[in-house]
Amino acid sequence: MNIVLGVSGGIAAYKAVMVARLLAEEGHDVHIVPTEDALHFVGKPTWEAISRHPVTTSVHENVAEVRHVALGQQADLVIVAPATANTLAKMATGIADNLLGTTLLATQAPVLVAPAMHTQMWLHPATQANMATLRSRGVQVIGPDKGRLTGADSGPGRMSEPAEIVQRAIELLAAREAHGDLAGVRIVVSAGGTREPIDPVRYIGNRSSGRQGGALAQAAAARGATVTVLAANVEDAVLAEIADLPAVDIEQVGTAADLQEAVQRHADSADVIVMAAAVADYRVESVHDTKLRKEEASGPVLSLELVENPDILRGLVAARRPGQIIVGFAAETASDEDALLELGRSKLARKGVDLLAVNAVGWTQGFESTENTLYVLAAGGELVATASGTKREAADGLLDAIAGLPGRQKL
Ligand SMILES: Cc1cc2nc3c(=O)[nH]c(=O)nc-3n(C[C@H](O)[C@H](O)[C@H](O)COP(=O)(O)O)c2cc1C
Repeated sequence: MNIVLGVSGGIAAYKAVMVARLLAEEGHDVHIVPTEDALHFVGKPTWEAISRHPVTTSVHENVAEVRHVALGQQADLVIVAPATANTLAKMATGIADNLLGTTLLATQAPVLVAPAMHTQMWLHPATQANMATLRSRGVQVIGPDKGRLTGADSGPGRMSEPAEIVQRAIELLAAREAHGDLAGVRIVVSAGGTREPIDPVRYIGNRSSGRQGGALAQAAAARGATVTVLAANVEDAVLAEIADLPAVDIEQVGTAADLQEAVQRHADSADVIVMAAAVADYRVESVHDTKLRKEEASGPVLSLELVENPDILRGLVAARRPGQIIVGFAAETASDEDALLELGRSKLARKGVDLLAVNAVGWTQGFESTENTLYVLAAGGELVATASGTKREAADGLLDAIAGLPGRQKL
């Protein structure tokens, strides 16, 4: 694959040498485009030797080759590592006063940036606003990590390790090769149902098998997305179907609190979050350390005090970064379709998600079945899709609605 590695002027430029080397070792053709400032940190001979291509910073060299557009047009992936505050600001506003800037504007390929800078520069509202702009355009971001910076300082701002950058690059290339409409998109899907312990052997749970969430993961991966499944007590047969998919990572969770912690940890790097798991609204206030014995109960009635769990979906919506899509699920028991949609609309109004997939559940419906019908409501309450059939077909219908949301360049 043809990879452009843009290098801007930060100390971490020396680590970009390893990024270039690892990519070349993977068999990729790497073209390095440093900024003038980057050459103060690592010189041209190093870049030329490692990439085996001539290296220029300016649009006025090798003009006959029209490098200022050709590099971007021919690229399968453009990486900027390290990405300085200055280069990120230029990218956000589309400034093209060097070869890296013109390449970035000329490319249709996925763009991955690895920011690196001092903590104060990273946290500055200007840098954060530029990052939000870039993310909303579909630019992929890796890091920065927390850790030791130049000198004695420590904090967020350290460039991700070369091996991690290369790993992410390989994922993006694999997704692009799959030519799916969700290529390069990172999706987090929660699946299954949470269980709230009463004591070491009992829990309050629900009948969700995780089939719909599993089908979403499969369908999204087939369309080129990289998927993280947060699996809450998902049936083994469902897990087995997705466990070997290279684009799917599975993390097991148990309770609503576990799910909240996991989804918050993954939210930052997700383009789309689909909360398909059935989450317990309440948990047992005081979980017994030992098995609750009948003999210890005070009579024929056992009372358990339940306390409300945090609203995970609302928390995600409140912390959502620009461009991120959040999709909720509502499983409702309703007498007919109108009543079902009414319940869905009222949940939608409470949660503030971009899309809500509403499905009917009952004693013989929804759970543990292989078929499903998802009524997809948009943020304004309008019904934008009815995705019906096998759970995989319903998943594809929902993903069509996600891919069709306005304002997303990359989806
Ligand atoms: C020793 C040194 C280290 C620097 N490290 C960084 C850095 O890690 N991140 C950053 O954003 N700027 C850093 N800078 C500042 C940039 O080099 C400066 O903003 C420059 O204009 C960036 O240009 P470029 O984005 O075109 O490469 C550093 C400057 C010096 C002198």
